[in-house]
Amino acid sequence: MSTAQKHIAFDVENIRQDFPILNRKVNGKPLIYFDNAATSQTPQQVIDVIVDYYTNYNANIHRGVHSLSQEATDAYEQARIKIQKHFNAKHTHEIIYTSGTTHGINLVANGFSSLLKKGDEIIVSALEHHSNIVPWQMLCERTGANLKVIPMNENGELILSEFDSLLNENTKLVFVNHISNALGTINPIEEIIAKAHNVGAAILIDGAQSCPHIKPDVQALDVDFYVCSAHKMCGPTGVGILYGKEDWLKKLPPYQGGGEMIAEVSFEKTTYADLPHKFEAGTPNICGGIAFGAAIDYMNSIGFENIAAYENELLDYATEQLQHIEGLKIYGTAKEKTSVISFNVGTIHPYDIGTILDKMGIAVRTGHHCAQPIMDFYKIPGTIRASFMFYNTKEEIDTFIASLKKAILMLS
Ligand code: ALA
Repeated sequence: MSTAQKHIAFDVENIRQDFPILNRKVNGKPLIYFDNAATSQTPQQVIDVIVDYYTNYNANIHRGVHSLSQEATDAYEQARIKIQKHFNAKHTHEIIYTSGTTHGINLVANGFSSLLKKGDEIIVSALEHHSNIVPWQMLCERTGANLKVIPMNENGELILSEFDSLLNENTKLVFVNHISNALGTINPIEEIIAKAHNVGAAILIDGAQSCPHIKPDVQALDVDFYVCSAHKMCGPTGVGILYGKEDWLKKLPPYQGGGEMIAEVSFEKTTYADLPHKFEAGTPNICGGIAFGAAIDYMNSIGFENIAAYENELLDYATEQLQHIEGLKIYGTAKEKTSVISFNVGTIHPYDIGTILDKMGIAVRTGHHCAQPIMDFYKIPGTIRASFMFYNTKEEIDTFIASLKKAILMLS
């Protein structure tokens, strides 16, 4: 399909009708929502599923003989199958529901406590979110393993030749995000996964920022663990998944004890349930899981190729205009990049610009974006971050640029 044909098929005005929040005003101005990397907005199709659940079949799952419980269980497990198909996992039981990306990472980090020993090595990248740094530091403290870091260059790209020199027979685990939340860099995960496997290390990919833009195939990637959150891809907060290869999930001990995750309990001995329930103690976010399935349906109905092509247009359009603003510096200029732009203007504090933009109805994130090592690399306290989704428009970018120029004038 040519770009022109794709363009016609992709009707952004029609898509925007699905998102009721985009009709609201903020501080008297039409909302321009450019904080999508923090959380995406929710289409009516997903809201309807949430309302239907609480209106018609709210019940606890896997527990009741009654009809409501059965309906809720069926919907929750159907959503798991939908998620399995979306990520192309081999088995449904390789999909573990979590409360989100952070939960998934902590589950794996906790599991490796009993599998690592002093002197083992763990590698993360310089581009990680705190949630893909701190759990591994905690794991190192528990086990005596050492944490190493793949460095980045000025463009915000990982230096893979340095990765090569970090890898050795002591490397047990490698953790890298697919896309940097702070800079938008798309990391070459295929290459990183292959390199990690060459030394026999397991690898976890943090897909929190890539899941709304790129549909991953976990089998083709041959990744050991993949984590993401529903709320980044038009679903609700408080739910996500950990994908793990069956062998790894069998090897890892349970993370939390409680109901649901057991086979038999006595005071003498408890045995654990099979996958996926072994990792799903307690009443889960049932409605969230069902709505995650609906969000995946919604995004697939638009098509990830269409989404990526359109968002790239938005990225190029905004980057081109921002580059002409005097004193503005963009952080993160990787060749492979998604629709995230982090920038500062002269010595103006990011928070001041963010606050004025908010008065103009424009939502951006300011600060260190839970990625302080990246800010330290650039020797800055933080940035202003505009992040686009497929429901944003070039007209919104025009208003954003004009408003930003006004804010700069006010603060200069
Ligand atoms: N990790 C999210 C962000 O980048 C919250 O804003």
